[in-house]
Amino acid sequence: MNLATEYLGMPLPNPIVVGASPLSDDLDTVKRLEDAGASAIVLRSLFEEQITREQMAEFVHLDGHGESFAEAGSFFPSPNAFALGPDTYLRHLRKVKHAVRIPVIASLNGSTPGGWIEYARLMAEAGADALELNLYRLSGNPDVDAATIEREALTTVKAVRESVTIPVAVKLSPFYTAFAHMAREFDRAYADGLVVFNRFYQPDIDVDELTATRSLHLSDSSELRLRLHWIAMLSGRVRASLAVTGGVHTAVDIAKATMAGAHVTQMVSALLKRGPDYIRTVLTDLEQWLVEHEWESLSAMRGNMNFSRVPDADAYERANYMLMLQSWRGLDPGD
Ligand SMILES: Cc1cc2nc3c(=O)[nH]c(=O)nc-3n(C[C@H](O)[C@H](O)[C@H](O)COP(=O)(O)O)c2cc1C
Repeated sequence: MNLATEYLGMPLPNPIVVGASPLSDDLDTVKRLEDAGASAIVLRSLFEEQITREQMAEFVHLDGHGESFAEAGSFFPSPNAFALGPDTYLRHLRKVKHAVRIPVIASLNGSTPGGWIEYARLMAEAGADALELNLYRLSGNPDVDAATIEREALTTVKAVRESVTIPVAVKLSPFYTAFAHMAREFDRAYADGLVVFNRFYQPDIDVDELTATRSLHLSDSSELRLRLHWIAMLSGRVRASLAVTGGVHTAVDIAKATMAGAHVTQMVSALLKRGPDYIRTVLTDLEQWLVEHEWESLSAMRGNMNFSRVPDADAYERANYMLMLQSWRGLDPGD
C-alpha cells in the first residue's frame, strides 16, 4: 500500500511525523522511532526565553513581582526550568542528525521578531532539514491589539523565512478571530507549512496553597475534531503543506486528517503513552484500513472531505451550528 506523501517539499514514505516533545531527547528513542517507521521527527522547542532567561529571572525576583504578590511568582516558569539551552540544543540537533536518516525538524518557540534569526541560521547550519516556528503567544496586555500581534507574528515568519534556505513551517494557535485569513497571510509570508494546532497548557489554581498549578494532560482522539475542521477549511486554499498536531492516536485518525486535507499527521501523546513501536502498529492498521476501504493509496483520498465544494463556508458553518443545537433529543438511556 502506498502511504507516500510530501511535506515541506520533502518526499516522505508515510504521514507519521513525531511531533515536538521529549521523545526526541534521547538518541536511542529517536532511533527506535525511525525503526518503527516515523517518516520525520520534530525536536522539542528551543524557547526564546532560554536566550533571555536572565531578564526573566530579573523580572520575577528583582522587579518585585515575586515578592509583592508571592503567589503570582508561581505563574512564571523558573529560569532554570527550560530543558535545552541554545548551545546544548544545537549539539543535540547535530547528534540526532548523525543518528538517523529521516528528516529532522528543529523547533523554535519565539515571541519577538528579530532575535530568532540567528538561531534559525544556526539550526540550519547544524543540519536541520526544516524549521517549525512555534508562535505560542498569549497577550495579557489590553493595550496591545490583535492587529499588532498578528503583524509581529507575520514579521517574525518573514524574517526567519528570509534568513534560511531550508523550509519553515509555522505551528499555529486556533485563537485568531479570523483564523482562515491569518493562515492565508502566513501562506503569503512564504511559510512552507502550517501546523495545526498548538495546545495551550492552562494553569489551574490550588485554592489551599494559593499557587498556580501546571499539569500536562496528554490528548485523546476527541481533540482531533477542531483540527479536522480547520484543515478541511484550508485544504486547497493555501500553497503551504498542512500538518495536523493534536489528537492523532489511531489509523482512522490519520485517515480522517488526510481526508480533511492534511499532508502529515504529527503524533506525541499516543507515543508517550504507548512507546515508539506503536508507530509500526498504526502503519499496519492504516494499510489494512486502506485496503479494506478500497483506496489505491493514501494520497488518493487527500482532501476529499475538504470544504472546497462548499460555496459559502460561513453560511454552511452557521447552518451546521443551528442544526447541531436543534438536533438535541435528550440523553440516551445510560448516559
Ligand atoms: C511532554 C510534551 C512536551 C511538548 N513539548 C513541545 C515543544 O517543546 N514544542 C512544541 O511546539 N510542542 C510541544 N508539545 C506539543 C506537541 O508537539 C503536540 O503539538 C501536542 O502534544 C498535541 O499532539 P498530541 O495530541 O499528539 O499529543 C509537547 C507536548 C508534550 C505532551
